[in-house]
Amino acid sequence: MGIAETAPVIETPLVRGYPLIGSVLGMAKDPARFFLDCYREYGPVFRVKILSKTYTVIAGVEAANFLGTREGKECLRSKEFWQGLVGEYGATRTLTGEDGEAHKELRDIMRRGYSKESIKGRYNELISITDRSIERDWPVGQPAPVLQAMQYMVTDQLGSILTGAAPLEYVQDIRTTILYILNVLVTRQRPKFLLMHPKYKKAKARVFELGEKMIADYYAKKGTKKDEEKNLIDDIMDAHLNNPRVMPASDLVLSLTGPYVAGLDTVANTISCFVYAVLKHPEVLARIHKEVDALFANGRIEEEDLKKIPSVHGAIMETMRLYPIAVAQMRTATKDFTFAGHKIKGGEMLYIGTSVPHFMEEFYPNPEKFDIDRYEKPRSEHMQSGAYSPYGRGPHTCLGKSLAEVQMAISMARLFYRLDLELDPPDYVLQTKTAPTPGPSMEFKVKVKGFRH
Ligand code: HEM
Repeated sequence: MGIAETAPVIETPLVRGYPLIGSVLGMAKDPARFFLDCYREYGPVFRVKILSKTYTVIAGVEAANFLGTREGKECLRSKEFWQGLVGEYGATRTLTGEDGEAHKELRDIMRRGYSKESIKGRYNELISITDRSIERDWPVGQPAPVLQAMQYMVTDQLGSILTGAAPLEYVQDIRTTILYILNVLVTRQRPKFLLMHPKYKKAKARVFELGEKMIADYYAKKGTKKDEEKNLIDDIMDAHLNNPRVMPASDLVLSLTGPYVAGLDTVANTISCFVYAVLKHPEVLARIHKEVDALFANGRIEEEDLKKIPSVHGAIMETMRLYPIAVAQMRTATKDFTFAGHKIKGGEMLYIGTSVPHFMEEFYPNPEKFDIDRYEKPRSEHMQSGAYSPYGRGPHTCLGKSLAEVQMAISMARLFYRLDLELDPPDYVLQTKTAPTPGPSMEFKVKVKGFRH
């Protein structure tokens, strides 16, 4: 698959939609289902109209794999989708929107700070932060708004671990800024005039204030840290001082507040879905309780201990399969190429539907079933080529993946160890929202019946 100039060219179908708005409704309701249905009806390449723009979608395992191939890297770039965000911050570039060498340079600067290294030896600190959140945001006997509680928990965790400070007073500002920017400038599902809204302007000013505080904090502590104590902020600021061509002053706020743009909604939405899915499946809940009771029986945990909670890991993987926060990756064609017999023209805006295989019977028997044992040997259903891509694929694959895995495993293990939770009402069916990041609605609540420990 890929460039095959001699292959016959198939005309790319346009998905039936409504006049003027095109496929906005299908995309807004359930984008994962929408892409799957289109893939079944039209094949691996089709076009969708969203408001006034037409996008080409390439979907399925071949499309997922294409992202990681040499051809894929040559034919696709990320720049255009992120340009609006870069301009809005008065920056020159951002990690997600760079390609080729320039992207590699930036990724190398941030790799250590975003990696699992940043959390090495700090698992018990992460547990303490999780405990703090449990005691603050999950009052016994009352319905707890799950997504909101998770947003505060994740900000506390990412802030403390990656940046050295937990900016809880900025959570709503960060979220408002992400919401407007992703909706208006990145996914372009909302009109531009919304950026004039005072609510957005105030939130953005506060995010800049947070960025400036991080810079001031770096200078206040400069020269006092050993290399192994340095965090993402130190690495970005050191790069700015040593190599301002790669990290100019104009790009600092965007880079320094990056962990929140990349990690807040992604993790908060995923672990909120985890809570729902686990409470919906009492047999899974029982297995998780058994594992986490053993995990925390001795108080502190070591890195090795995380291997002892396979059901928690299986439930996280299954949550990310069924509730992917990145349904598709957005790219632009750098040049004309042929994919699955379809001609794609240079400059076309593309969605790469990497989550489509997540819902296909061909890869995941009984795909609607929340089955946490799919990932264990010998089944290893996720190991089929191109079948599982919750963290994306290719050069932009999630840089925080290994960190997120530890963060989610510890948070969920601790939450279910400490709290006795129940869906409220017990037969509750999850309501979701899709913009900007797919996930549960803010109304999703669970009842905290009491403390287990
Ligand atoms: C449930 C958890 C997460 C999921 C499912 C997830 C998913 C993704 C996906 C799909 C991409 C690729 C986007 C693209 O190709 O256009 C991505 C990129 C990225 N993620 Fe994550 N992410 C998660 C958590 C995190 C966390 C906790 C961090 C760090 C705080 C993080 C940092 C990043 C960064 C820096 C990138 C940009 C990489 C690049 O452009 O080179 N992510 N993530």
